Amino acid sequence: MSANAKTFNPYLPQLAAVVERVDETRDVFTLRLCLHDAQARAAYRFQPGQFNMLYLWGVGEVAISIVSDPDDPDLIDHTIRAVGRVTRGLQRLKPGDKLGLRGPFGRGWPLEAAQGRHLLLITGGLGCAPTTSMIHYALQRRASYGRLTVCHGVKHPDDLIYTDRIQTWCAAPDTQVMLTADKGTPEWRGRVGLVTQALEDIDPIMFKGMAMMCGPEPMMVSVAEDLLKRGMMLTDIHLAMERNMQCAVGHCGHCQFGGKFICKDGPVFPYAQLRALLAVRGF
Ligand SMILES: Cc1cc2nc3c(=O)[nH]c(=O)nc-3n(C[C@H](O)[C@H](O)[C@H](O)COP(=O)(O)OP(=O)(O)OC[C@H]3O[C@@H](n4cnc5c(N)ncnc54)[C@H](O)[C@@H]3O)c2cc1C
Ligand code: FES
Repeated sequence: MSANAKTFNPYLPQLAAVVERVDETRDVFTLRLCLHDAQARAAYRFQPGQFNMLYLWGVGEVAISIVSDPDDPDLIDHTIRAVGRVTRGLQRLKPGDKLGLRGPFGRGWPLEAAQGRHLLLITGGLGCAPTTSMIHYALQRRASYGRLTVCHGVKHPDDLIYTDRIQTWCAAPDTQVMLTADKGTPEWRGRVGLVTQALEDIDPIMFKGMAMMCGPEPMMVSVAEDLLKRGMMLTDIHLAMERNMQCAVGHCGHCQFGGKFICKDGPVFPYAQLRALLAVRGF
């Protein structure tokens, strides 16, 4: 938890208002939120890779990564896919509507260990959410990091979101964005194939850096094992995990993964800590 843990009960949602809703695709949208209480707003700070619990009164609560810029904690962005009861309810919110927000929770990306290193961010589908705030963070502190390569894979070109942001990232110094779609269309300018295949086109110098990944677990395992074969150190591979969550503070056990709780020990983990468990199919 951040510094506001001293002031605020982690079980108690804070009132937040929708400032803006951007419809990214038919079922993916970004909610820009602002905490109602000035003291809560002033205390709220987050690290890239952390998440909030968003609470729709009368419906339920869901874990959602924070995608906005940690330097601007007054406006808190979440990009959400409408898959079920709560997320579909969130999709119906309009500017001015209110909801509950608890957080931020969890351990984010290893910011200090990453300093001065090349950063390789590999994401699949909406898995780009937890890495987005890391990209903002690194680009705001460009001199503190080496080269930045983002490999982002989608199933279909229509699933691609953040096209404006991606153009901004491409224009940043020493930054490369590689897009892949499982299936192409005549208009698609990226690669066609799995995001794992994009590794073949990456400058091998990036394998001396640090990898940060999120997306479907089989994809992350496949990429991580490939990175190891290409010479990346096991300790330099990190991944963001997702599990069904309820309390978000390590009490209820819903997010347990072996001896770890994804909510408080993660959601970002060194691959070394999870490798054996992730090798067990369906765990
Ligand atoms: C740390 C963390 C960060 C997350 N960040 C994001 C994010 O940035 N954007 C986003 O859209 N979603 C994110 N999720 C997933 C999100 O929490 C679930 O999609 C949400 O809980 C679904 O709730 P629901 O009531 O809408 O759907 P439900 O009615 O509960 O379920 C709909 C379907 O989604 C499945 N499901 C539910 N929860 C999860 C889950 N955690 N992982 C995989 N499948 C699930 C169910 O099994 C069911 O098939 C994150 C989850 C975690 C744990
Ligand atoms: S969500 Fe309750 S222990 Fe992690």
